[in-house]
Amino acid sequence: MENMDWYAAKALLEWQLEMGVDEAMLDAPVDRFAAHEAEQEALKAQHAARAAGGRGAAPVKAPEVDPVAEARTLAAGAGDLEALQAALSGFDHCPLKRGARNLVFADGVAGARVMLVGEAPGRDEDLQGKPFVGRAGQLLDRMLAAVGLSRAESVYITNVLPWRPPQNRDPKPDEIAMLLPFLHRHIALADPDLLVIMGNTSCQALLGKRGITRLRGTWTEAAERPTLPMLHPAYLLRNPQAKREAWADLLSLKAKLRALG
Ligand code: URA
Repeated sequence: MENMDWYAAKALLEWQLEMGVDEAMLDAPVDRFAAHEAEQEALKAQHAARAAGGRGAAPVKAPEVDPVAEARTLAAGAGDLEALQAALSGFDHCPLKRGARNLVFADGVAGARVMLVGEAPGRDEDLQGKPFVGRAGQLLDRMLAAVGLSRAESVYITNVLPWRPPQNRDPKPDEIAMLLPFLHRHIALADPDLLVIMGNTSCQALLGKRGITRLRGTWTEAAERPTLPMLHPAYLLRNPQAKREAWADLLSLKAKLRALG
């Protein structure tokens, strides 16, 4: 390091920036995910000690905030989409936020008749702060165009989680639960005629069940409106033979829009 020239040091800094490093605070690195998990373990131990209630049990301090209750209060207080985005970006209880580069709130036409709900941002979405801009998003745009829909004119898009999970791992149930009040408020404020929920994470969040290959194609109801579960475009990239089913679902979406007038 000491002998590193200016250009090498600059290249190293740029590489770190590309990897998502955006603050320099300490000499030693801090694993904030591990710190969060340790905090959760400590809380669990405190609860267990309290439940045991024995004489020797140390007095325990109650946890100060309930993240889900706080999410509910913040979401309910947002009167429009802009306020909801601001509330979400000020919500500090989800550890994913610390590892993400950007909040990914939504894209497309707010107030459109169709609202799509995906899973969580990936690398490209995290970099650009917009949902579905990577390969899966490009496929989604082509699928929508095939039935005359587009995010430029007729579709609004968001995700269950607004921050990228590390290494694109699946969202965890406690992350979904913590952010669900924001998603429900998002849907209420955007007020689409219908929802298309793509993949298992959105089915889990909005229908309380998984099994997208069984659920897809059958209209149901979520957030008080007609809802169509559909295969996720990332799944279609890995399983191109399933595009037949996706095409049938897109036709069903078009027919529903016509039927609703
Ligand atoms: N997959 C998703 O579910 N959402 C995105 O925004 C990108 C990929």
